[in-house]
Amino acid sequence: MKSKEAVLLSALAIPQLASALDNGVGLKPHMGWSSWNVAQCNAASAKYALATADKFASLGLKDLGYEYINIDDCWSTKSRDSAGRLVPDPAKWPNGVKAVTDRIHSMGLKFGLYGCAGDKTCAGYPGSEGHEKSDVAQLVSWGVDFWKYDNCYTPCRQNPRPQTCTSPSGSTKTWYAPMRDAILGAQNTRKLHFNLCNWGRDEVWTWGATYGHSWRMSVDNWGDWASVERIGSSAAGIHQYSSPGGFNDLDMLYLGSPKLNVNQERLHFGLWAITKSPLVLGLDLDKISNSTLTIIRNKGLIDINQDSVGKAATTFRPPGAPSPVGGKIYPYWAGPLSDGVVIGLCAGTSAGTYSVNFKDVPGLGDSRSYLWKEMHTGQTGNGSSVTTA
Ligand SMILES: *[C@@H]1O[C@H](CO)[C@@H](O)[C@H](O)[C@H]1NC(C)=O
Ligand SMILES: *[C@@H]1O[C@H](CO)[C@@H](O)[C@H](O)[C@H]1NC(C)=O
Repeated sequence: MKSKEAVLLSALAIPQLASALDNGVGLKPHMGWSSWNVAQCNAASAKYALATADKFASLGLKDLGYEYINIDDCWSTKSRDSAGRLVPDPAKWPNGVKAVTDRIHSMGLKFGLYGCAGDKTCAGYPGSEGHEKSDVAQLVSWGVDFWKYDNCYTPCRQNPRPQTCTSPSGSTKTWYAPMRDAILGAQNTRKLHFNLCNWGRDEVWTWGATYGHSWRMSVDNWGDWASVERIGSSAAGIHQYSSPGGFNDLDMLYLGSPKLNVNQERLHFGLWAITKSPLVLGLDLDKISNSTLTIIRNKGLIDINQDSVGKAATTFRPPGAPSPVGGKIYPYWAGPLSDGVVIGLCAGTSAGTYSVNFKDVPGLGDSRSYLWKEMHTGQTGNGSSVTTA
């Protein structure tokens, strides 16, 4: 296999870009961990949540900005109680959810849960359709900070409703609106981060910012190179929709997947960072390798992801470069930062050396010298072009 390599540069010599942000939720892409890839339903427990919070502290991840401990599908019992409430599975949450959120908050971290807009979650647990207000009241009472909202068993022309509807009766907006309104209604008590997971349907990037703080723009990342290519390449065309308070969510980081080599992991992390995707680890932190740990602890890339300007990088075509190919990762990316420009040189489909003249980079555009820093090696330089090592 050819080696694949991502090189990311920050040229530091252009004037400060203006940014005027309010205080609120989701002004930067959220960073954290999610349980699903770790052990699917079995990881939806207090034990995993608390062990991960401890790992955030001991591995230095909290200090780098990893904040949310998010539990995915299967945390509740299979049916609601007689009052219509969701019930945390007592085998997984022996002391309830609040005991866990209290502990996580005391560590300076945040806690997320998962629900679904249909009548069942994807794994067949109770969905929130018709229970939006009371479910939000319950989340608020537990001190939950984040709510991922999936799209299984939603209104469908197929009968009975399938897990994944191919002929929806209405737009996903129809069933995401009641939950958005319930979350807005509780805003004075608790500000929840609302993460839409409609798998990129109905061009969610065009309306996601009026419904939530982040939205999945594709179907799942399956942890293979094909997923990284499919999702990463399609982020280029929708970059303009990401801004503070509303970000394209490229799905969990599948670093630690046995299907990715270290260069592919670097590209995966770097591309998610510069496209301002949430950085949500989908791996078991007890089993993380040193090389993966080095990548997820790259402070330069994290700072680029969390930059206050909050605008996603996209592709640009230098003179003489070939046209982008759909579904493949184009080598040349750039986007604005508060103190310069981030340039991504991604050997996505073929190994090799890539060069760029700064005058060809959107946001730079003249022939003077720029200071630059490569984010994986820390190498710095000063000139009118740069070439990957
Ligand atoms: C990982 O790094 C730690 C600390 O530097 C070291 O003690 C350990 O031996 C390394 N493990 C591997 C598998 O290289
Ligand atoms: C960068 O290079 C230019 C041109 O050689 C030079 O004028 C400038 O002083 C250098 N800047 C720094 C900070 O080294």
